[in-house]
Amino acid sequence: MSDKDKKQDTNISRRSFIKGVGTGTVAATVVPAAILVGNEKTAEAQTDQAISKAEIQLNINDTVYEIEVEARTTLLTVLRDGIDTGGNNVDLTGAKLICDRGECGGCTVLVDGKAVYACMMLAMDAQGKQITTVEGIANGDNLHPIQEAFVKHDAMMCGFCTPGFIVSSVALLNENRKPTLTEIKEGLSGNTCRCGTYPFIFDAVETASEKM
Ligand code: FES
Ligand code: FES
Repeated sequence: MSDKDKKQDTNISRRSFIKGVGTGTVAATVVPAAILVGNEKTAEAQTDQAISKAEIQLNINDTVYEIEVEARTTLLTVLRDGIDTGGNNVDLTGAKLICDRGECGGCTVLVDGKAVYACMMLAMDAQGKQITTVEGIANGDNLHPIQEAFVKHDAMMCGFCTPGFIVSSVALLNENRKPTLTEIKEGLSGNTCRCGTYPFIFDAVETASEKM
């Protein structure tokens, strides 16, 4: 083989090699694209699945409601967005949506008598349970002792955290009728008051416990 032929051969080989690598590169970019399309389809199917709706029954404040929910709907969303009872929309907006991540306690409701963050509970999981919101704490026009005590001690400023504190206080007193100050602080440690009304809230719980 002449030097010229060798050179040509080398060039061809190099060109072929580069072409081969190029093809490989194209293939490498095509394959993930195909995977992506597949993933998109999977994601679409998952979304379709996620938004499928179901009819459930929820017992809220001693009334049973038939409600259509998505699998991802939280109990708090059901309460706050209104329950359509065929013309009469029931809005239970006492439980507040503040952090939406189980940190502030503003959305606290009672589930079978225990304090629960409604933003962290799926509506579907609340089936078959007794749900009590702050709207269901009073007995008709008669305030619950804890509500009376909050008024008496002026245990609120902006009032945004108050429904959550009232519900948590009821849960605490249901379990422990005569809590010490330390137990009150522990029992309400899942609730946050940005206005700093804690001392008045603790006084209110002590007063309510004496009355109950
Ligand atoms: S909104 Fe539920 S804990 Fe804050
Ligand atoms: S009274 Fe304002 S956050 Fe508690």
